[in-house]
Amino acid sequence: MTDSNKSATLTVHGETYELPVYSPTTGPDVIDIRKLYSDAGVFTYDPGFTSTASCDSTITYIDGEKGELLHRGYPIDQLAGKSHFLEVCYLLLYGELPQAKDLEQFETTITRHTMLHEQMQYFYRGFRRDAHPMAIMVGVVGAMSAFYHDSTDVSDPHQREVASHRLIAKMPTIAAWAYKYHIGQPFVYPRNDLDYASNFLRMCFAVPAEEYEVNPILSRAMDRILTLHADHEQNASTSTVRLASSSGANPFACIAAGVACLWGPAHGGANQACLEMLEEIGSVDRIPEYIDRAKDKSDPFRLMGFGHRVYKNFDPRATVMKQSADEVLDLLGVENNPKLQVAKALEKQALEDPYFAEKKLFPNVDFYSGIILEAMGFPTSMFTPIFALSRTVGWVSQWKEMIADPQNKIGRPRQLYLGETTRDYVDIENR
Ligand code: CMC
Repeated sequence: MTDSNKSATLTVHGETYELPVYSPTTGPDVIDIRKLYSDAGVFTYDPGFTSTASCDSTITYIDGEKGELLHRGYPIDQLAGKSHFLEVCYLLLYGELPQAKDLEQFETTITRHTMLHEQMQYFYRGFRRDAHPMAIMVGVVGAMSAFYHDSTDVSDPHQREVASHRLIAKMPTIAAWAYKYHIGQPFVYPRNDLDYASNFLRMCFAVPAEEYEVNPILSRAMDRILTLHADHEQNASTSTVRLASSSGANPFACIAAGVACLWGPAHGGANQACLEMLEEIGSVDRIPEYIDRAKDKSDPFRLMGFGHRVYKNFDPRATVMKQSADEVLDLLGVENNPKLQVAKALEKQALEDPYFAEKKLFPNVDFYSGIILEAMGFPTSMFTPIFALSRTVGWVSQWKEMIADPQNKIGRPRQLYLGETTRDYVDIENR
């Protein structure tokens, strides 16, 4: 945060107040209102935090107008094209691209933390067989605090480091086992000779009855999906993790809160909702009907995978994802995938429609990701768990940054109260 010697003047109830203004390394200036209530006796009002910076951070930057996403300064398209998920994890966690020996050590550490405590199996077995994998994940991630007591003390930097590694390493196993339980197949244990994405695919698709060869095309595509979802600055689930951890709660409980928030269809649940929508539309000739519904204010229907709070031009992740969908389907020899055809035609027709242009609504990362995941063999119910597994490194990096920040204090928003003022209790017989 640079103190730019700039200030803003606010006049409230006839009194004038000077508010400090800070300039970030890039992006819009920020007005510091921390002393506003104590000095002027007023709050600011910003439901949905559309104009509020809740923290300072050095991890991820989004320029919504330019369609730019940077992790520690590196553009997402370069990371998706040249790097791989575990290197991006290192970058997010530690701030720099690793030297070869540091990367090797980090990969070894993550690989050697992928097994779950054996007793956690019994925890899985308590869920109904037809439970949604996200329901299982919310429970199992929270339950990690009951299994890994030696990494719950947030005041100890070593324990924080161990908790970070455990979360990143175990999340693929947790997600894969949620899937296996859901479909009634035996759990498959992780293997240390496989890379992160291949290990996850194997834990999802292998069965004890026969050998499973991971297709390198699918492994590369999975790695790219993980990379594209790794972090996204102060989105709803990340802010949830930060708010939960502001009370000093243990990291596993905080990340479980993030998983819960991600589940909603306006956030990580959009990939499942989007594929279901493409399936429901079914054919290109039905698209106009759905575009009309999305524009109709009396209809709650929205185009899923469309629109974003921050991106107002294009979502750079969607551009890479669309390319990847073409590549993966092509390499797998899936020709004329009907959902991809509907998706492309829907994108084209919506972008030509003045409603979407005026409101700056574009395809987001979730518009094409489901098509790739489905081609890989995942059911729609696994799309959001895969998002959760990718985003874990972002949640963990933001959580670590927050705990280490000396300004860290409990998050406690205020409100615009519109309820009754004081009134006397009335006995039940007199109401
Ligand atoms: N279809 C139709 N209209 C839309 C859509 C859409 N997908 N998204 C926004 N609008 C309209 C909305 O009705 C509103 O119109 P008006 O100004 O006339 O009231 C205007 O655009 C602004 O929408 P908003 O809801 O105020 O914008 P927001 O910034 O609060 O919401 C959003 C952003 C992503 C929740 C929203 O665009 C949406 O619901 N999209 C569909 C769900 C989705 O794809 N979510 C994934 C987001 S990317 C992955 C992630 O971060 O998890």
